[in-house]
Amino acid sequence: MDGATNVITSEGEKKTAAIVRLKNIGLRGVTVADTKISHVDGENGILIYRGYRIEELAHSSTFEETAYLLHHDRLPTENELREFVKELIQARQVPEFVFDALKHLPKESLPMDVLQAAVPILATADPDLGDETREANVAKAIRLIARVPAIVAGWQRIREGKAPVGSNDALSHAGNFLWQLTGIEPDPEIARDLDTILVLHADHSFNASTFACREVVSTRAHMYAGVAAGVGALSGSLHGGANERVMKMLLEIESEIKSADDIGAWVKNRIDSGRKIFGMGHAVYKTVDPRSKILKQMARGLAEKTGHEKWYEYLTRIEEESLREFAARGKPGISTNVDFYSGVVYAMMGIPIDIMTPIFAISRISGWCAHIVEEKFAEAQDKPALYRPEAEYVGHYCGVIGCTYEPMEARG
Ligand SMILES: CC(C)(COP(=O)(O)OP(=O)(O)OC[C@H]1O[C@@H](n2cnc3c(N)ncnc32)[C@H](O)[C@@H]1OP(=O)(O)O)[C@@H](O)C(=O)NCCC(=O)NCCS
Repeated sequence: MDGATNVITSEGEKKTAAIVRLKNIGLRGVTVADTKISHVDGENGILIYRGYRIEELAHSSTFEETAYLLHHDRLPTENELREFVKELIQARQVPEFVFDALKHLPKESLPMDVLQAAVPILATADPDLGDETREANVAKAIRLIARVPAIVAGWQRIREGKAPVGSNDALSHAGNFLWQLTGIEPDPEIARDLDTILVLHADHSFNASTFACREVVSTRAHMYAGVAAGVGALSGSLHGGANERVMKMLLEIESEIKSADDIGAWVKNRIDSGRKIFGMGHAVYKTVDPRSKILKQMARGLAEKTGHEKWYEYLTRIEEESLREFAARGKPGISTNVDFYSGVVYAMMGIPIDIMTPIFAISRISGWCAHIVEEKFAEAQDKPALYRPEAEYVGHYCGVIGCTYEPMEARG
């Protein structure tokens, strides 16, 4: 023990407590802040945004309405939603110099890297960048939510040697993304499915990328700096990058096995060799992720519509066999997460594999921005706090005087 700090007990009581040097690698189970935005009940497989169950929002809401809910703590009236949608549409236009900058990048650049690089470039075009009022931050959030899809779609066009496509203001946020990606008016059912996917991915409490955003803006850095960090965190294969890995895993299986009956042995072999079954397991859910159930249903419908029944059959068999294997190994809590069926859903929509994680970002940007506003304005706690955890030093130590610096010629 060393010194004292203020803590808040689980009953909400503020206390001064001795600092206890506990090490918790990965911060599992450590509560670092309060939030009013979303909650994950990992034991019961429940996700809520601002009090509403994800199943309800996926069924009845749209991405635009959900983004409003995340930012305003309540559902909009009809007029409020109309106004919000109008603001999003008006903000869709990406300044030409941003695309000009992207045109200089090598065509093989990863879309998540391009997106991460584009976010600070977008910052330079934001008239409210230096204004740290709440109102200005909400305006920045609207611009980011509106423009990130255009950046992802624009990069796809640029690397194909085509010009970015302008907004089709008659289309929804999801429909317009598909339009800007392909230059073809999307099938309304596919656009609605993508809209539901955007609702499902919009927020997820203190996941790694959201925490990265909050941590960065806790230093009073601006919203774009926080969002760039979020994009970087999301790109990893243990986080948003898992959807792409599931699809690659599926294609790998397809090329390696003769029939679905070989999947049991494939799964066992993969786990035995210490490799991950991507799209399974979660840091918080100890049962099936509720988003995965909705995506599974969507995958079934799309498989029939697009003739990809084999992909659906293989994935459901991987799920069954993995559940059986994990249970047999005493890990029954490892179940499908949001990434298990989303990759295949995107593939059935004709979306390239490396655009799958960027689609996660297109949606999660709404949650990131809501969290950044909550963090900056301490909307769920007394005052803003700068995150500053500690690490135990386990490196070389030569006492308080430090190790003797040897001149280069004396170093053997
Ligand atoms: C998401 C994830 C990092 C959560 O991990 P966690 O709660 O910290 O749990 P751990 O990684 O410590 O896993 C606990 C054990 O289960 C195993 N495990 C967890 N998920 C697994 C998976 N998908 N495939 C194989 N083994 C898995 C781990 O290897 C570990 O085994 P060990 O105790 O023998 O070392 C993990 O489940 C994972 O890597 N999943 C695959 C990637 C993925 O889909 N990510 C998207 C998350 S939304």
